[in-house]
Amino acid sequence: MSNLVRIDASALSQGSHSKALADLFEQTWRAKHPQGQVQHHDLSRLNLPHIDEAFIQAMYTAEQDRDIQQHQLLEQSTHFVNELKSADCLLISTPMYNFGIPSHLKTYIDMVTRVGETFRYGENGPEGLLKITQTVVIAASGGDYTQPPMDAMNFVTPYLKTVLGFNGIDSPHFIEAAGMAMGEEKQQQSLEQAKQTIQSILNQHDE
Ligand SMILES: Cc1cc2nc3c(=O)[nH]c(=O)nc-3n(C[C@H](O)[C@H](O)[C@H](O)COP(=O)(O)O)c2cc1C
Repeated sequence: MSNLVRIDASALSQGSHSKALADLFEQTWRAKHPQGQVQHHDLSRLNLPHIDEAFIQAMYTAEQDRDIQQHQLLEQSTHFVNELKSADCLLISTPMYNFGIPSHLKTYIDMVTRVGETFRYGENGPEGLLKITQTVVIAASGGDYTQPPMDAMNFVTPYLKTVLGFNGIDSPHFIEAAGMAMGEEKQQQSLEQAKQTIQSILNQHDE
């Protein structure tokens, strides 16, 4: 059986381009994996707590030494980490907000980037521990940051590439729905391209 973990970061409940593309991905994925399980988190509805001092202390305390409170503090984080450990496919959909990712998504990443669980320090430095077969990031932005010189202002894709890689996810596939605020023609062109890429990624993966 296959498991898809879908994480949405747009604050919009209606009219989100990144969520609409993630819907298409999920529908197509479900059609290809009729027995598959989907865990879907709409982060803007979850109001996850920022990680704080107590969370960090609990995270860096060895599991067998944690007290009950520390186990409770880490419960939701551990649940998310376990989902990722059993995922075959991870889908992240995100807007660009102020040149970076929304704070909801940063909070989720802070909760799931766990020493000893998703990464560890080995003889050769940090080693990522998540082994997810397929990871796809759908990123929507008002402007187009896919080419120089605008690419220097994009802190969404480089950051996600880095932090996913740190946790062991080496080759995420990025689908950029760029130029959502650059007029109807550009928007439709980008969305059409993104839809085609989604279909081709899911078709390729079956081969
Ligand atoms: C709070 C906020 C900040 C934004 N910041 C940027 C930005 O820095 N650069 C940009 O190109 N677009 C920016 N946008 C536009 C969004 O990236 C664009 O509308 C995108 O489609 C949002 O994703 P969504 O449709 O999935 O919600 C911003 C939008 C909002 C609401």
